[in-house]
Amino acid sequence: AVYSRIAGTGSGLPEKILTNKDLEQFVETSDEWIASRTGIRQRHVAAEGETTCDLAERAARAAMEAAGVTAAELDMIVVGTTTPDLIFPSTACLLQHRLGANGCAAFDVNAACSGFIYALSVADNFIRAGNAKTVLVVGAETLTRMLDWSDRNTCVLFGDGAGAVVLKADTEAGILSTHLHADGGKKELLYNPVGVSVGFKPEEKNAGVRVLMTGNEVFKHAVKALDAVVDETLEANGLQKSDLDWLIPHQANLRIIEATAKRLDMPMDRVIVTVHKHGNTSSGSVPLALDEAVRSGKIQRGQLLLLEAFGGGFTWGSALIRY
Ligand code: ACO
Repeated sequence: AVYSRIAGTGSGLPEKILTNKDLEQFVETSDEWIASRTGIRQRHVAAEGETTCDLAERAARAAMEAAGVTAAELDMIVVGTTTPDLIFPSTACLLQHRLGANGCAAFDVNAACSGFIYALSVADNFIRAGNAKTVLVVGAETLTRMLDWSDRNTCVLFGDGAGAVVLKADTEAGILSTHLHADGGKKELLYNPVGVSVGFKPEEKNAGVRVLMTGNEVFKHAVKALDAVVDETLEANGLQKSDLDWLIPHQANLRIIEATAKRLDMPMDRVIVTVHKHGNTSSGSVPLALDEAVRSGKIQRGQLLLLEAFGGGFTWGSALIRY
């Protein structure tokens, strides 16, 4: 059998940092409120002119260097993003040209905050099917570009960033399984209400491009869906909770992360947490957390990792990985 293994990981974060104290200057909020409700202390914010592809490129180059893979070796590039530089070409195509990997397959996957898990699953399935050997998978976002900075319900939650992995075909696992789900019936709880068909709103700030969220409802759905998908993942592999070494969750809210950890009977010292530093970077969050844990030496080869995410759509999913 053929499996995909993570050969290298990388990160790309904007330099500029916005703290909760900074936010207090322009919306009625407090460091105490944000930290106690979400765990967030600060987030990175793209500079003017800095794009999703800029962050993706940084993460991709770092992952390729760690994997010892050159652009010519890439068979495919999959980018999870809901904030592409352009409507088209895809961010994956823009990235491909920057890397000098012209010729290989390249496309974006839009699954909101589950974008990286979806992209990883697509890449894994191409490798398992024998249709690709070396794939660059990126989760990259500039969510702050579509925030309403006067809406304290949303603007305190998000940040910008990108993470990447290089997957290589191997006879040993690797990615053991991925599990994807969606429920398009809950659109209004978390969405961005404008677009090519609906139109834009020239009279509104940012032409009406903004994240709208009913936070407490999303919270409940997220916890329930994540509980179900982590159960499903263990069951599909005939594993026990105690077999897991690390939980690498989507970094939206520390309380959601803690709920999933509790479901898995995992102490928080076996959970990778970056939400305090990064906020919610949507598709960027899981690969950023993974890269940090790999580079800090926490995650070791041979360990069992559970990745999961939940986002607008709704979309949710998981990946079980023998690192
Ligand atoms: N500062 C101060 N007060 C605030 C702020 C703020 N930044 N934001 C909201 N409040 C107020 C509200 O107005 C409300 O006041 P009211 O009771 O007078 O009306 C009060 O705080 C409580 O609001 P709730 O929404 O009930 O607070 P909750 O405890 O649910 O926390 C939060 C809100 C942090 C948004 C939480 O619900 C959450 O994290 N939800 C999930 C987010 C998520 O996971 N999203 C999925 C991924 S995102 C993606 O896919 C793009």
